[in-house]
Amino acid sequence: MGRAGTLPCRLEAFSGFNFVIIPMSSPNSALPPSLPTGGTPRAGSVKRLLGWTVAVIAAGCAAFVAYAAMYSERMPLAIGTIVENVTGANPQPVVLHTPPQQQPLSAVAALGKQIFNDPSLSASGKQSCASCHSPDHAYGPPNDLSVQIGGPHMDQAGYRPPPSLAYLYRQAPFSIGPDANDTDAAPVTLDQLANAASTTTRAVKTAGTAPAAPAMVPQGGLFWDGRASTLQDQAIGPMLNPVEMANATPADVVQKLTKTKYLDQFKQLFGDRIVNQPDLLVDEAMFAVGRYQFEDPSFHQFTSKYDYWLQGKVRLKQAELHGLRLFNDPDKANCAGCHLSKPTADHLPPLFTDTQYEALGVPRNRDLPINKDPKFYDMGVCGPFRTDAASLTQYCGMFLTPTLRNVATRHAFFHNGVYHDLQHVMDFYNMRNTNPEKIYPLDAAGKPQKYDDMPAKYHANIDVADAPFDRKLGDKPAMTDDEIKDIIAFMNTLTDSYKP
Ligand code: HEC
Ligand code: HEC
Repeated sequence: MGRAGTLPCRLEAFSGFNFVIIPMSSPNSALPPSLPTGGTPRAGSVKRLLGWTVAVIAAGCAAFVAYAAMYSERMPLAIGTIVENVTGANPQPVVLHTPPQQQPLSAVAALGKQIFNDPSLSASGKQSCASCHSPDHAYGPPNDLSVQIGGPHMDQAGYRPPPSLAYLYRQAPFSIGPDANDTDAAPVTLDQLANAASTTTRAVKTAGTAPAAPAMVPQGGLFWDGRASTLQDQAIGPMLNPVEMANATPADVVQKLTKTKYLDQFKQLFGDRIVNQPDLLVDEAMFAVGRYQFEDPSFHQFTSKYDYWLQGKVRLKQAELHGLRLFNDPDKANCAGCHLSKPTADHLPPLFTDTQYEALGVPRNRDLPINKDPKFYDMGVCGPFRTDAASLTQYCGMFLTPTLRNVATRHAFFHNGVYHDLQHVMDFYNMRNTNPEKIYPLDAAGKPQKYDDMPAKYHANIDVADAPFDRKLGDKPAMTDDEIKDIIAFMNTLTDSYKP
């Protein structure tokens, strides 16, 4: 059976080929009518003829398969799927519009690169941006700690795992619902936005189906809770964060900047007087860090195996291909419902996030020092690290959907770093609802403490609508063990620097 078996019969639909079309099932019926069939005297020549016919078909099929494999983009979709099944080649390659590879960097970005890598700007003298956002680890953490260590004496634990800094170049500012960039519109507060959004019902996120109306949900922004809007705004955060680079005040940052060997470059770019204008010095320094992340091609390489596959340059292995299909299957894994996997209509490569916020209810990470306090809950959008949306309790527990590009290089997953390998992440997606006893700790009575990292009053915010979270207690999980293996194999194709 299998789709490959139907291949010869489909040839007739094909105008570009001059094959003799003979259904495989009954060779005789396709003999030209003038040829006598049966009759013993000429049985030998009929046999020979049949032999030739079979040989022609075989050669034709072989030529077709070779052609289809080489020029899969010229095949109609049905044949394309067959080619994809057999060869792993993308039947519909696309041209991807990737950001300009600006080389060399602008002078400001080159300055930003030095700041990014300079540990002398931290209170400890030992930590730079690159310590937690390692260029060798897709600008994510270089180790498998749930949270990184920082502070003046490098002994303070952080609260969340550092996200990858790659692929942020298209991140819009935080908003609730679209169009926060409308500059002419009257200024709107988060409360007003949330109010407007409250009248719309939440659209279910289904892989492969574009939502009919724009999503009236929190989206965009930087950090797990979206509290910074631009890379420039963001950069001063870690400089002053007491558990990170731990400068006590912006003046401390200024002081350190004026002692760097690249101070002359500041003067060249912004004039000598910059050293006497501390606010401006910090602003320009943070602007430079943002420019570096925006300009340097290493932050948005698009050199994963999947990118090459999208462009028709490499083939996926069967497991990877199967994993991709499950990833995109709205009834199975449905990962692409939130981690978008297809190029946009205008050929921008997929970033594996819809940049929206969701409450998934991941288990509490009991290893985090901050979680030793049983009353402490990290509620994402509604606080405590973000303060302007505290009253919007409908968003409590929501975190930014992270990109899955380079996800296989990470060793701490989710906003609290509770998992350290993709198998556990997959088990969570697969069994959170069907077998919560395998995901959450059990209470004294042996009952799973479901959603133990959120106060009960916010449990209603948790996503139970989108597959695979639409399964119920005791249902069959959405994915089998083999399917999970294949989805992980697919996620491994999202790592940059693949050599085709
Ligand atoms: C001690 C580790 C540490 C250091 C040092 C550090 N960061 Fe981070 N970074 C983090 C953590 C943790 C987060 C997530 C924090 C959150 O969501 O509240 C983060 C988030 C970010 C984000 C947002 C990413 C996203 O996907 O939303 C950017 C951008 C960023 N950091 C840039 C920088 C820059 C620039 C520097 C240097 C000035 C820096 N970081 C220094 C740990 C660090
Ligand atoms: C309804 C939207 C949604 C769906 C569907 C979804 N995810 Fe996620 N994913 C998220 C959000 C939101 C987070 C962050 C949640 C948090 O940290 O609390 C996340 C986090 C992750 C992470 C952790 C990444 C990191 O850097 O920490 C991985 C891996 C992941 N998802 C893979 C998948 C896979 C595989 C599937 C399909 C089985 C899937 N996701 C389905 C929204 C979704």
